Amino acid sequence: MHLHKFEKIWLIFSICCLILFLTIIGVSAFSFDHHPSGGSSTIDPERVHETPPFDSPGVTKIDEDTYEVAVVAMAFSYQPNTITVPVDKKIIFNVTSTDVTHSFSIVNTNVNMMVVPGLISTKEYTFKETGHYLIVCNEYCGAGHHYMSMEIEVVS
Ligand code: CUA
Repeated sequence: MHLHKFEKIWLIFSICCLILFLTIIGVSAFSFDHHPSGGSSTIDPERVHETPPFDSPGVTKIDEDTYEVAVVAMAFSYQPNTITVPVDKKIIFNVTSTDVTHSFSIVNTNVNMMVVPGLISTKEYTFKETGHYLIVCNEYCGAGHHYMSMEIEVVS
């Protein structure tokens, strides 16, 4: 088979493009650990219920101005289902999953974390107004995805 000179050039050019493209994707996806937004550390997803602070999920007071909240996400609920935190204090949310990828999204705030099994997603937030805040799962996780929610009561 005889290849025209330009055909050869373009063939080589397109192969080079393909290799370059795949290299860029490969490097960006794997070399820099592709972590979801927010700080994250690792956890054994099988032992979430035995690993502090997730062995007793809920609100913990750290000091006068800081509270920590541990939440376990699972198909198709959050544990605990309702929490109460004070207004105008720094709330540090630590969330992990026991099964598949979920999200922890506080409606009408900028808190929107992906929750991946094996990782602890962390986000700080200070509620400026009292009231009821709804948390929903924005990551499709199965048949009960739409029912997956919890509530935060922010009090003064
Ligand atoms: Cu959990 Cu969608």
